[in-house]
Amino acid sequence: MPARLHPAPDKALERPRIVRPGDDNFPTTPALRTLLRDRGMIEEPDPPPATIARAGSSPAPSLKGPRFTLGKTPRGTLDVDLSRLIAYKCLIQGSAGAGKSMALRHIIEQAHPHTAIALLDPEAEFANLASHIGAPTIRAADVAADGLAVVALNARRHRLSVHLDLSDLSPDERIVRASAFLNGLLTAPKEHWPHTMLVAIDEAHLIAPHLAASGRDAEIRRLGIATLTELCARGRKRGLGPVIATQRLAKLASSVVSECHNHLLGLNVYDRDVARAGDLLGFPYQKACQLRTLPAGRFFAIGPAFAREAVTVDVAIASTPHVGATPTPMPGARMSDADARDRLDLDRLPAAAASDHRPDRRGRLALSLFLLNDLAPVAGTIVQTLKRISPNATTTTEIAAKLAIEPGIVDQAIDLLIGERMIDALPRNDCRVVRLAAALRTLIADTPIVGLS
Ligand SMILES: Nc1ncnc2c1ncn2[C@@H]1O[C@H](COP(=O)(O)OP(=O)(O)OP(=O)(O)O)[C@@H](O)[C@H]1O
Ligand SMILES: [Mg+2]
Repeated sequence: MPARLHPAPDKALERPRIVRPGDDNFPTTPALRTLLRDRGMIEEPDPPPATIARAGSSPAPSLKGPRFTLGKTPRGTLDVDLSRLIAYKCLIQGSAGAGKSMALRHIIEQAHPHTAIALLDPEAEFANLASHIGAPTIRAADVAADGLAVVALNARRHRLSVHLDLSDLSPDERIVRASAFLNGLLTAPKEHWPHTMLVAIDEAHLIAPHLAASGRDAEIRRLGIATLTELCARGRKRGLGPVIATQRLAKLASSVVSECHNHLLGLNVYDRDVARAGDLLGFPYQKACQLRTLPAGRFFAIGPAFAREAVTVDVAIASTPHVGATPTPMPGARMSDADARDRLDLDRLPAAAASDHRPDRRGRLALSLFLLNDLAPVAGTIVQTLKRISPNATTTTEIAAKLAIEPGIVDQAIDLLIGERMIDALPRNDCRVVRLAAALRTLIADTPIVGLS
């Protein structure tokens, strides 16, 4: 038998040492404590995941991280364990008017004394909440994507709350900038991971739309989904706790839904939504049908931060005014036709419409490439010439003669315009007949529609 170089390890020494409160290396972050306790690596009293305090009885003592009351249940109040909300993420789902934004608002109001908040706000609904919690508002439309990543890194570093207003952006730009910001949060260096941050995202399906629910550019959609999935999957260790709200589970990428272990599920109307929400709650279909009749603000709550079994909760009304509240009906103004025309600026509409033709990002790129082409000036002159005779057609020979441009150059410019689908061309004898393409013709004239008598 070969000589043993090391003594046989003592089995008792192989077990990880249990760390107890008071030890030097006892973790200070609640999220980290939750994780290590779940793995049996620290010894700490384990409070019930959620406390449903019975009416009249004193609330259960807070044995570890901060807790706050979410709202009323049929038997008392539902307290939320903030550490578990951050560690196990939260999905708030319900159809329009279910009370998701109000719930998000209440959660942020209650959580902000205990953790920094990043609030992603696609509808610009939360500016007053941001000033209430002392979070500066950053208008994403005014800052380049790289800049937003820097803002995110600085927020993590200095434990600062931030309100990211994502309104006034095209759907694709909204995804690009939100992703840059979230990636900034995720790439914070390790020493900033203990700086916990609750990342509240309203209308999250706008950032990570499900394939079937989206007509977005595939690559940009993938960026949004990958970023939000990564935030949910890798956020816990980094002290990032996503709390995301969406109208329909079918609209949000499923990889994001499956990462959230806490759920607040409100009013659902469509069969498919009811079935999916019922699945998350562990309800048979019959019981899930209760989701169809929930009033605004009432949710089924389940998950480590709330309760082991689903419980209905009437979420408390937030103290800051809700900007996205449903307006009460207001009668339309009554005035003369002339006054109405004047107020609607109808006589100045054509000018306004012309200034509205601002191409989007992809359109701008195509336009830039077109303008950089050496043939662009000739192509532009040809379009102007065809516009004057539209909807009629002419020949390339005519154009060359009229504009006094070499026929070969005119032909090349015509090829460029055909490639850009700006003109239609037909070969006839030894020249081509050309006119503006249908899309351009409809922009400059109304085509009369006549009956086929
Ligand atoms: N907790 C609540 N208690 C009582 N009423 C509520 C509560 N939450 C919301 N409501 C009512 O429901 C309305 C809509 O709420 P909210 O804007 O939060 O819905 P939402 O689910 O975010 O809708 P959307 O998807 O259209 O944004 C509020 O204006 C308010 O009247
Ligand atoms: Mg809302």
